Amino acid sequence: MPVPIIIDCDPGHDDAIAIMLAAGDPAIDLLAITTVAGNQTVEKTTLNARRICTVASITGVPIAAGCARPLVQPLLVGDDVHGESGLDGPRFPQPTVDAVPEHAVDLMYRILTGHPEPVTLVPTAPLTNVAVLLTRYPDSAAHIRDIVLMGGSTRGGNTTPAAEFNVYVDPEAADIVFRSGIPVTMCGLNVTHQALATPEVLARLENLETELSRICTELITYFASAYRRLWGFTSPPLHDPVAVARVIDPAIVQCVEASVAVELRGQYTRGATVVDMHHYLDRPVNARVALTLDSEKFWDRVIAAIDVLGKRKA
Ligand code: RIB
Ligand code: CA
Repeated sequence: MPVPIIIDCDPGHDDAIAIMLAAGDPAIDLLAITTVAGNQTVEKTTLNARRICTVASITGVPIAAGCARPLVQPLLVGDDVHGESGLDGPRFPQPTVDAVPEHAVDLMYRILTGHPEPVTLVPTAPLTNVAVLLTRYPDSAAHIRDIVLMGGSTRGGNTTPAAEFNVYVDPEAADIVFRSGIPVTMCGLNVTHQALATPEVLARLENLETELSRICTELITYFASAYRRLWGFTSPPLHDPVAVARVIDPAIVQCVEASVAVELRGQYTRGATVVDMHHYLDRPVNARVALTLDSEKFWDRVIAAIDVLGKRKA
């Protein structure tokens, strides 16, 4: 049976591929796409979600805009990586898919309480929407099967030496999620850096020969230029689809149980995810932490999903 999910995202190049994987893989029932400020403003991430659904022929999946800023600190956007639009690279047609007028948090709550079984949340962005959901609607937790997120890291960051972007943008929100008591799976940089879009992956995409695969190639090529310029990566890591892949087939992303704490006060470490795999701190286990990726199975699922969606258009 397909797993019902809501993806909460900030498209974002890698979010775009995550949405396509979720929409194109038969193991997932994509109930909704909610957007939040992160890689770009929420206006831009919502427009980008509409663009992605338009070019990927994703219909019947409600898109709702969420929080425009983190809980406490001012918004930091990721325009150095994702560009002014948040999805720089390809030229997109005018979107034909609209967003619903409901706030993302209200849409999440309505879907969670209306669905016949508990739903998996897949956040691939700052966790502001999810934290507001759990705070505004505490009874929503009973309708959430688990939270499988892209964020954090077992070692070091990409926005400060200690903190990964999604957690760094809204550490208070991440703290609420990790302390919620809901089963959390953390797909951090340590595992997403194994999801490298190599020239071989790009060649497989190009061989699909669809308009969508061409757009994906342009998205990844732009993303690769940013990762080469900023961090010297030869091939870019596609972070967000790893969280979706974990839901599709847990064997693709191997995890261990650990206690994860979000640092809120450190002068140099605010936003760090402190992962205690050896129980030094005697804190309760509150997460599964992803450590290894089966990249062959991962890319097979990503390419197959893009192929399915690309052929819808034809
Ligand atoms: O640190 C990587 C994360 O930050 C990804 O979700 C990417 O889309 C950005 O949001
Ligand atoms: Ca993201």
